Amino acid sequence: MNRRAFLASTVLGLSEGRASVAQQTPEIDLREVAKRKNLLVGSACSFRELQWPEFTQLLAEEASIVVPENEMKWQAIHPAPDRYDFRRGDALVAFAQAHGQLVRGHNLCWHEANPAWLLQTATPQNAAQLLTDHIATVAGHYAGKIHSWDVVNEAIHVEDGLPGGLRSSLWYRLLGARYIDLAYQAARRADPHALLTYNDYDLEQDSPQHELKRRAVLGLLRSMRERNVPIDALGLQSHLHASLQPYRWRGLHRFLDEVEGLQLQVFVTELDVDDTALPSDERERDRLVARLYREYLHNVLRHRAVKAVLTWGLCDRDSWLNWRQRRPDRLPRRPLPFDAELRPTPAYFAMREEISRAPSRTPWHPPAAG
Ligand code: G3I
Repeated sequence: MNRRAFLASTVLGLSEGRASVAQQTPEIDLREVAKRKNLLVGSACSFRELQWPEFTQLLAEEASIVVPENEMKWQAIHPAPDRYDFRRGDALVAFAQAHGQLVRGHNLCWHEANPAWLLQTATPQNAAQLLTDHIATVAGHYAGKIHSWDVVNEAIHVEDGLPGGLRSSLWYRLLGARYIDLAYQAARRADPHALLTYNDYDLEQDSPQHELKRRAVLGLLRSMRERNVPIDALGLQSHLHASLQPYRWRGLHRFLDEVEGLQLQVFVTELDVDDTALPSDERERDRLVARLYREYLHNVLRHRAVKAVLTWGLCDRDSWLNWRQRRPDRLPRRPLPFDAELRPTPAYFAMREEISRAPSRTPWHPPAAG
């Protein structure tokens, strides 16, 4: 049975009983359903996955936007002080272009995935040059080919106790808060057509910890706007954790209203659902994971500033959640819209139904100056 026939035969059985456009026309893939709402949809993928023909066929059918999971990070793309390696990033960009897909760039400045040489040689004296040269070279190499760059990734970590909730990252320790402005200014110079995004996690739940982080992120975005630092979008990573208790979304709604008020676009950049706290039974796990996908998308897509939804991986086989460690019961996690054999999971149908029900929006738009 091919995938489309499989989709058609399973869609009614796996959904939770509410009729929808997508159910009535089960052959339609996510990419097409999202396009009708002017929404981009897609996932992270790795160079390794691009060697898997069944995977690439699925990715081409389902995604209108892709992002390299690791291939554009410092460690991968800048392995030695005077050497850049664009081969794997270029392969992903070529794949996307061949299939009419947009590409997100991830990322230009982070506290993780930095090469050993950088940690050994960066000093307060040379750090600004190292950072801006890297951004000029990498964003310059891909100029005109990138929909949006995660320029600075995960700069907020309230627990570190720094002003503004900033993280005590490598870049902060070398340069103070000004590293953020330097990074965005360098990215804009290198590629005026890419949307410049600030990307972070733990912004979704109604918990005191997430609320503190939302306040700090808003403070950062607002101050960047006030100081005319070029920024166009917020990346809401959305690594969610399923539990038996339903989530509440009031804090997220307030936050997204305020982000919209700053005239920023919003991209859901790394959606997945960790099922570690759920029982072993696979059907029950899938049901609860899909429920969280459904609830999350139902809430987040009410905000018309949300222009893209990307999951962090397309299939469970290669999810970072399975790479790190197994669940306590030793079973692999099932966090993504396709399982390890590339069969759609209930989360896939939940995504498709919620997107088909979402309000239509104006399409994403490039930077005003671009
Ligand atoms: O490819 C090597 C392999 O050859 C080696 O044997 C193995 C043993 O160490 O490591 C493999 O590389 C790992 C790579 O993932 C590929 O699986 C790296 O060590 C590991 O650090 C890397 O982890 C990535 C992590 O970011 C750090 O860069 C994950 O794949 C990736 O999913 C994760 O993605 C992040 C986003 O960039 C930012 N937001 C959170 C998200 C999840 O942590």
